[in-house]
Amino acid sequence: MAAMAFVARARKTAILLLFLVLHDGCVGARPLDVAEALAKAKDVSVGKVGSNVKSFNVLDYGAKADGKKDSSINFIRTFKAACNFHGDAMMVIPEGDFLIGPVIFSGPCFNPSSLIIQANGMVKAQSDISYYTGGADGTDWITFQSLKNGLILSGDGTFHGQGAHTWKYNDCAHKSKCVRLPAVSFELPIGSLGHYDDEADVSKISVINSTLKGTTNGARIKTYKTDSPSKASDITFKDLIMDRVANPIIIDQEYGNRASTQESRVSISDIHFENIKGTSESKIAVKLICSKLNPCRGVQVKNVNLQYVGRPNDPRPFSSNCTNAKVTYSGIQRPPPCTPGS
Ligand SMILES: *[C@@H]1O[C@H](CO)[C@@H](O)[C@H](O)[C@H]1NC(C)=O
Ligand SMILES: *[C@@H]1O[C@H](CO)[C@@H](O)[C@H](O)[C@H]1NC(C)=O
Repeated sequence: MAAMAFVARARKTAILLLFLVLHDGCVGARPLDVAEALAKAKDVSVGKVGSNVKSFNVLDYGAKADGKKDSSINFIRTFKAACNFHGDAMMVIPEGDFLIGPVIFSGPCFNPSSLIIQANGMVKAQSDISYYTGGADGTDWITFQSLKNGLILSGDGTFHGQGAHTWKYNDCAHKSKCVRLPAVSFELPIGSLGHYDDEADVSKISVINSTLKGTTNGARIKTYKTDSPSKASDITFKDLIMDRVANPIIIDQEYGNRASTQESRVSISDIHFENIKGTSESKIAVKLICSKLNPCRGVQVKNVNLQYVGRPNDPRPFSSNCTNAKVTYSGIQRPPPCTPGS
């Protein structure tokens, strides 16, 4: 069992809490359970961290808080130092403006319990799209991967995707050939769900109290079509603010190869989207696209209040798309929910 928490407090603008337990038999490390991770995330956000936790501050690894110098390599070095430390560790992003391009924070880590990232600064994405064009499907901005022992991300900081406003011409909602805008992604065990053969099931992830600003995807679960069978369940996205997000709520089981006729073999169940408000750059703000082979079960959508702020001349209605998904709705629904049977 491993735990991952991506915690954030929405104070000024951003941030998040995410928590996840993987069903893998990791040896030696003691992962946190969900309640422990949430409690720890709160402690981190108010500066209460035990003296047994060693801090690794990005400034000590050469990052500049001037919003101009690219600090990608410094963030990666800081992460590596914290991750390779054989004790409890916390990567610290202090107040200030930091500019980074695409980075991958990759484990496995040597810390006995979940690595903590305390983010109080403003982390901005390089706004030149050429940074994100690698690979068939583009490159994400921040990727967490192979963190078998989990991650707690907490703080008052902001992760600002920068580009979405200016990159509207790269409109993946309308075109099949497009450059995806960068996103923050969690590749949980190894790779995105369903990408590799040996991956673990993923459950108990919470992303709470966060603001996502100018990113491609808000609350997202993606699985590849060319999949080994695995499960994603008990995942909660709650109390989130979307600020000009391209796809605020999305389950995408067609990820990776839209043209392929192969269906994803990842089964998705017990997914909760609750109290999600803000602005969407896409007319189809809620996309729940599941696999024909494994329809999504137990998807709950509660209190979603989004407003369209994309291109003014898009003729389509502000709407939801549910494909192969059983969805239960409650509370306010903007866009309107999928019609039964669709
Ligand atoms: C979420 O934010 C509220 C208001 O800032 C705060 O009281 C609460 O503790 C936060 N929850 C977590 C899990 O950080
Ligand atoms: C909903 O999504 C599915 C899968 O991508 C697509 O085939 C379908 O055309 C979409 N429906 C609408 C009304 O956009």
